[in-house]
Amino acid sequence: MNILLLGSGGREHALAWKLAQSSAIQSGGKLFAAPGNPGIAQDATLVPLDATDHAAVVAFCTLEQIGLVVIGPEAPLVDGLADSLRAEGIPVFGPSKAAAQLEGSKGFTKDLCQRANIPTAGYVRVSNRDDAMAALERFGAPVVIKADGLAAGKGVTVAMGMDEAVAAVNDIFAGRFGAAGAEAVIEEFMVGEEASFFALTDGTHIMAFASAQDHKRVGEGDTGPNTGGMGAYSPAPVLTAALESQVMERIIAPTVATLAAEGTPYSGVLFAGLMLTKDGPSLIEYNARFGDPETQVMMSRLESDLAELLLACATGTLADAQPPRFSPETALTVVMAAQNYPETPRKGGSIEGIDKAEATGAKVFHAGTALSGETLTINGGRVLNVTGRGADVTAAQAAAYAAVDAITAPDLFCRRDIGWREVAREAQG
Ligand code: AMP
Ligand code: GLY
Repeated sequence: MNILLLGSGGREHALAWKLAQSSAIQSGGKLFAAPGNPGIAQDATLVPLDATDHAAVVAFCTLEQIGLVVIGPEAPLVDGLADSLRAEGIPVFGPSKAAAQLEGSKGFTKDLCQRANIPTAGYVRVSNRDDAMAALERFGAPVVIKADGLAAGKGVTVAMGMDEAVAAVNDIFAGRFGAAGAEAVIEEFMVGEEASFFALTDGTHIMAFASAQDHKRVGEGDTGPNTGGMGAYSPAPVLTAALESQVMERIIAPTVATLAAEGTPYSGVLFAGLMLTKDGPSLIEYNARFGDPETQVMMSRLESDLAELLLACATGTLADAQPPRFSPETALTVVMAAQNYPETPRKGGSIEGIDKAEATGAKVFHAGTALSGETLTINGGRVLNVTGRGADVTAAQAAAYAAVDAITAPDLFCRRDIGWREVAREAQG
């Protein structure tokens, strides 16, 4: 079977690496990726397709007899690419435009939680500044202000004081996020530790996939501005088996059942951002795709055939599929980012030593890299995901940083403390 993967980040490199190991590809199928990156090019044939041009993607799939399309990022999902492919009978991993509103509209997800009685922070949806100010008065600080639509991870403000909250509301209604900020959600501040949980679904059947913990702030000790994620590990021991079943029962299952009952079934991966509060797991947000860099650590542990699992989601046959098998080891990835990320990253610097890093047993996934002649260069904000494995988070962390230290790239930086919460707990025994 031929497969087309869409996207160009570290998440997609991890997916390409695992898809290339699947029997569909090992038995002679072709793996294509668009637009890909130099790392993905080691596992797939790159093609210059534009995911916003649905007709071009459909035409390519027909020409190359693609049996599965895997959509990596959220934008093409929210834009309805999965619908355009399904309309032509092409199996696709990823939700419809209607179901992808789980990521595309914060207000949509909050209303769904309310209808389905899913634990989440109390909230108000607002579409003008006056209503937003009234909501701020009602909640008091600390309070959380979110632009409703996709805002490249920048639409959320956790305001510890009222001045900051008012400034965030003013920003949104002054048009800082364009159409994504035509509406906003004001919500209660939750206290707890964050964890991510991933489940696969074909619209009716649900399968738990894996847990992970991300590090969203740019600075050590979780300080400084938010990023797309500076490092992650999987599994996240803080999400115990008991908590995982609560998440499946109280959050994932009612989400899938409600969307199906309402005529907009969700198929693909549900990525739940969770706050582990004193009253149990509470939903912070949903993403309609795999996480980046969470995917890099989950794929490092996955022993099952990825293409089979994703195809089962795409074709409504997940009930017949075997649950995923994972290595019992922990995987931990460190994001090496360009100087000045998450502001405008400085591009162009050279990268050397990936072979040496991989000779330690680690795996280096490419994100924002480019080839300039024979030289690998920096071409984005998050550039490399250096991924190690070990018996626990402490050992996986040591493996990942040993590989980081084998890379020579003066214009990249990384956090040196990925995994710190769990490393501290492991040190206490
Ligand atoms: P989101 O883009 O919705 O994941 O939000 C970004 C980050 O803001 C989350 O990872 C949390 O750290 C924080 N956050 C979002 N909503 C809340 C909330 N209701 N209470 C506390 N922190 C929150
Ligand atoms: N690492 C967070 C995300 O993929 O949204």
